Amino acid sequence: MNATPKPTNGSWSPSLVAFFCNWCTYTAADLAGVSRMKYAPNIRTIRLMCSGRVDPQFILDAFSKGADGVLIGGCHPNDCHYAEGNYKCLRRFRLIKRMVADLGIEEQRLRLEWISAAEGEKVKTVVNEMVDQLKALGPLGIPKQFAEWDAEMTRLEHAAQTSQSAESEVAHA
Ligand code: FES
Repeated sequence: MNATPKPTNGSWSPSLVAFFCNWCTYTAADLAGVSRMKYAPNIRTIRLMCSGRVDPQFILDAFSKGADGVLIGGCHPNDCHYAEGNYKCLRRFRLIKRMVADLGIEEQRLRLEWISAAEGEKVKTVVNEMVDQLKALGPLGIPKQFAEWDAEMTRLEHAAQTSQSAESEVAHA
């Protein structure tokens, strides 16, 4: 895994997408806001009814659409309102963590935390820690990478078509 800071243009600021359970972490984030605890403004929160609703595709979509990091927040073990949604989340998380590592995405870019409704302070700490780590890692740049791969595919298709037409001209000569 490459944790070397990547060059930035100076104006870059990390984008952190958070999937928070309505009953605990989302409420804790709300509490942190109401209590005027300061945490990095880089977070974009998506509220779900349970961390068990986090589909691995949501995480891949977030990265592919420009997120530099993804944070999942759920109820503590044995506190899930749907009995075992958070255990399902944990199993999926372990799987997606390996997939993400195979794609060359640094492990610090994906994090799961159990944060109860009363733990506003923990939301602040986790978000600030993660944003600092993302700043150190630099931009992930998946959309740019996709654009480069698309351009490469177009070049290859064009080269293949040109070569086919040349062969057909020789065959008809
Ligand atoms: S209800 Fe919060 S993790 Fe399931």
